[in-house]
Amino acid sequence: MKSFISKESIAVLILLLSAICLVTEAQQCRPSGRIRGRKAPPGQCNQENDSDCCKAGKMYTTYKCSPPLSGSTKAYLTLNSFEKNGDGGGPSECDNKYHNDNTPVVALSTGWYNHGKRCHNNITISANGRSVVAMVVDECDSTEGCDADHDYQPPCPNNIVDASKAVWKALGVPEDNWGGLDITWSDA
Ligand SMILES: *[C@@H]1O[C@H](CO)[C@@H](O)[C@H](O)[C@H]1NC(C)=O
Ligand SMILES: *[C@@H]1O[C@H](CO)[C@@H](O)[C@H](O)[C@H]1NC(C)=O
Repeated sequence: MKSFISKESIAVLILLLSAICLVTEAQQCRPSGRIRGRKAPPGQCNQENDSDCCKAGKMYTTYKCSPPLSGSTKAYLTLNSFEKNGDGGGPSECDNKYHNDNTPVVALSTGWYNHGKRCHNNITISANGRSVVAMVVDECDSTEGCDADHDYQPPCPNNIVDASKAVWKALGVPEDNWGGLDITWSDA
């Protein structure tokens, strides 16, 4: 009996499957590289508010992209100071200025920061059944870290909304729990 499955149909099937794989791959955000941690010189790396310092010899993954956006994109909220001598390192990328931590401002991971295209745009952050509008003023650099420019902190993960304490307050998070929270965000 003649088989219904020809060599041609198998070839077509394989092509189709690899095309599907390629499309899925393009939608994901893959690492762009790795950097080796260096220990901060004395007096560097402000560990106020649980900021992380690079560990000598540890490898850190870097990203040039962030996960694709949806209507309400999942992210991880962290705490940052945007004030002078705070744990945020230098002034904000968007305007080369420091910002009052009592105003709702955020830094976004490199991919979402998108070469500054979101600078001074507002985003809506939701968690806990509440939401807050915050202004994008800075980049949380996913491509570099562990150097003086980044206060010897590791590169940012690719899914971070790094927020001033005003954002945490507005979301109604008890102060003891400030630092890490699953949230969703969207362009306001
Ligand atoms: C970090 O901690 C210091 C001292 O505990 C506090 O005064 C400051 O407001 C905190 N910074 C932020 C961004 O919460
Ligand atoms: C974002 O919100 C702030 C504070 O409400 C406002 O001053 C600013 O104009 C808004 N930015 C944009 C681009 O709408």
